[in-house]
Formats: sequence, structure tokens, C-alpha cells
Amino acid sequence: MSHEEKLAAANAAENKLAAELNLRWFPKYHLAARGGWVNDPNGFCYALGKYHLFYQHYPYGTAWGPMHWGHAVSEDLVHWQHLPEALAPSEDYDRDGCFSGSAIEHEGKLYLLYTGHNFTEKFGDDDHMHQVQCLAVSEDGVNFNKLGVVINPPEGFMHFRDPKVDRLPDGSFYMVLGARTPDNEGRILLYKSSDLVHWSEPEILVSAKDNDVNCFMYECPDLFKVGDKYAVATSPMGLKPDGIERNNPSITQWMYGTFDGRTFKKESELTEIDAGLSFYATQSCEAPDGRRILSAWMNMWHVAQPENTDGWNGAFTLPREVTFENGKLYQRPVREVEKLVTATEEIADFTLAHGSKTLCADAQAVRLQLALDPAKAEQSGISLGTSAVLTVDRQHGELTLLRTDKGLYLPRSVKIDPAAKLTLDVFIDTSSIEVFVNDGESVITTRIFPQNDRQLLAFASNGEAAFSSVKVSKLGNSIDRPCF
Ligand code: FRU
Repeated sequence: MSHEEKLAAANAAENKLAAELNLRWFPKYHLAARGGWVNDPNGFCYALGKYHLFYQHYPYGTAWGPMHWGHAVSEDLVHWQHLPEALAPSEDYDRDGCFSGSAIEHEGKLYLLYTGHNFTEKFGDDDHMHQVQCLAVSEDGVNFNKLGVVINPPEGFMHFRDPKVDRLPDGSFYMVLGARTPDNEGRILLYKSSDLVHWSEPEILVSAKDNDVNCFMYECPDLFKVGDKYAVATSPMGLKPDGIERNNPSITQWMYGTFDGRTFKKESELTEIDAGLSFYATQSCEAPDGRRILSAWMNMWHVAQPENTDGWNGAFTLPREVTFENGKLYQRPVREVEKLVTATEEIADFTLAHGSKTLCADAQAVRLQLALDPAKAEQSGISLGTSAVLTVDRQHGELTLLRTDKGLYLPRSVKIDPAAKLTLDVFIDTSSIEVFVNDGESVITTRIFPQNDRQLLAFASNGEAAFSSVKVSKLGNSIDRPCF
């Protein structure tokens, strides 16, 4: 079949799934495919007058399969429109999948750089594969023509994927790419080009031996400017847990430093971008006003995905603005989320001791903002029905998000100052919760799977806690779903 025929078949398959979705956990204001499996966000960019977010997509079922690129566009980062599938595996070099990559506008056209993937023995055998970097182009931002392979792997490299392209100040292009050396060391490679077609020999941007020797592969690397620094973000494989750090089955980290077009000098260690159970393969985009925005797969490998019986699987986090302030990287929900608000209720300040107070009787698609002074309470926080509890634990100096549904019970925590007042900005959707702590100092994102009880409560136990500046905003739909 030709690429066009493969795309037509993929669109038809997705329409079929979309028509039969069970919507009980389908997001109201987070982007998800109309049907089928998704993983990494790809090609997140502002190009040809719109934001584009492509994604790893299998439109024939709710488990991972030969990867296509799904495609959605937005004028404002919060209202999305689905477009037809952009890429489908169709050529010898991408026969088993169009793996992750990026997009960039150049001379009025939209270019996609992606990994062509082949299993060389049997489908799914990760020890026998061949990966190459490929180029595709579109004049209208909707229909893409494949231009073929532009980078072959260095001798002996098998895991070699996820090209992320951006511009240097002189207008030329750089690409970062995840790789695993033949002796199993993770590397981020750097390539350069002036035309996106011809690429330099690779240089080593990041080596696992300088960061975490256990890392055998850096998936989905990104290198982006933020303020007067550069940040490297990546999903390293092979890391070992250490206390509350690196506990997730799949981890995404970042560090900041300087980049002179050739060398990245780190000024911090790699740390987790999001402490929750559902954040992987982040990718950033530069907004036309210069803001650096990132999104991620709001799921990860090796975790329960109960929605896979519902005709869909996986979604994307809210777009977050990244800044570098006070020697730290911060992430905050993009200010455009205000456009989703349909009603707001302000709740007068209150104090609780051994008790709870209802903040919203049925929190479906809600933003909750508050300041919390744990004062003397041993534990205080908020809970959502029987599905999630967010607890400030003064004894341990931790803020913990606990998923309490049967079989999904797993806590994820960040360190906090137990004596200090903290602010929480919490986004609840049909099957997710994203918690921005202390104005974006840390974030915990976790998928949840509530049945009916969605009562949002504030609580305190063993002592008094004070809640102030409490605001509950209802959020509207952000996704145009033409076939529902
Ligand atoms: C990360 C990843 C990428 C790869 C893609 C395949 O989640 O494994 O490295 O390109 O997913 O779907």
C-alpha cells in the first residue's frame, strides 16, 4: 500500500474506535487521540500560524503497535482540533513504525524529522532493530510527503532515535538524538545542518558516564533555551530508585547549563521534571512570544492503563510554561488555561482540625487553587472521592499524592518545607490530576480512574491547618471531536 492508502486506512480505523468510545474516563480538557493508543508527543511546534502537536499513535487498537503520527492543531494551546493522521509506516526504512521526532517550519513549509524503525528479526524484539532518521515535508501543514532517510546510525548503534530539531542563533539547525552505544552507555548526540537534509557527523552532547552510569539509553532528548540558560530534558532508561527520587517505572529528567552551539556545560544535576506516575517523553516548543512550553505523555511505560478497554489509551499533560528563576527551573500551566474557565467560586478562608470540608461536590473538570498553612496539623490536604489523596505530611516534610483506587495504590511525593505555608494549583480532569506546588517549583501528575464519587474535600488531622485564597474553577471542553 502507498503512504496515502496507509493513512486513509489509519483514519478509517480511528473513526471506527472513536464512534464506539466509552467516555467514562475520556479527558474533557486534556488532549487525547479520538481513538487508539498514544504515547510520546511529537513535533510540538508553532508553525504556519498554529500550534501543532503530533503524537505516537496506533489507530487500530489500544495497545502499542506500529507507530503512526497523529496530529492536532491549536490557536491557543488549550482548544485543539484533530487533523488526519500525518505519518504511517509505509516504506522499507519505517516499515515497523514512524517513531518519535520533531517538527520545524523552514522556508514556509513544515518539516518533520522522525525515526524510521525496523525490527530486524521479529516484531517487538528490542534486541534486534534498525533505526534511521527520516524527513517529511508539508506545504499546507496537513498532508506530508516523505523525503526519505537523512541520517544513518554510527557503526554498531542499534538504539538511535527521537530527533529533536531547533535553531541556533545564526539560523542554522541542530538536532539532539537519543542513542545507546554498542557497550550500552546512554548518549545524547548532537548533529548540525543548514538545510535539514544534510547533517554533520555527530558530536557527544551528554554521556551517561558524566551523569548516571546506570543509564543505557536517553529516550526523547530535548535541548532548549530558557531565559539565559539552556536545558536538557530526556527520559533516561536504566536508572535506579533512590528514596523518593527516581521511583517511577519510567522517568523524565532535566538539567540546566550553558550551550555554545557545540558543548553543553551542566550547572545542575539531572532531576525529575514531574514526580508523578504519569509524565514521560516530554517535548518543548517555542511560542511566538518567546515562551518555552512543554507537554508530555500523561502516562508511562509499565503502569496500569485501565482506559484501554474503552477504545482509547493515553493523553497529554496540560502545556506548561518553563522559566528559569532563582537558579531553578519552574513549570506553570500556560496562562491560556484561563480561557477554559466557565465558572469560578471563591471560598472564604477556613481552618480545620480533625475534619474535612467539601470544596466541590462533583469535581469533573476543575482547577483548585489554594494556600495551605499546615500549622500544627500532622497531616492536611485535599482528597478526590475515593481515588486520590494529596497530603502534606509535616513529620516527613513531604507532599504526597496517593492514588487510592484498588490495584492502583501508589504514592508519589515531593519534598517540602514542613514549617512553611505552601500553594497548590491542582488540575483535575476525568482521569487525571496535575498538582503544581509552590507556584511551579515542583509538579506531581498522575492518572486516576474514579468511578462515581468525585467529591473534592479539604482535610486536616491531628491538629489545625489553615486554608486560604481557595478558588474552585470549572473548566470547559477543549477538544473538538467532530465524529462524536
Ligand atoms: C519513548 C519511545 C521512543 C520511541 C517511541 C516509540 O516512549 O520509546 O524512544 O521513539 O516511544 O513509540
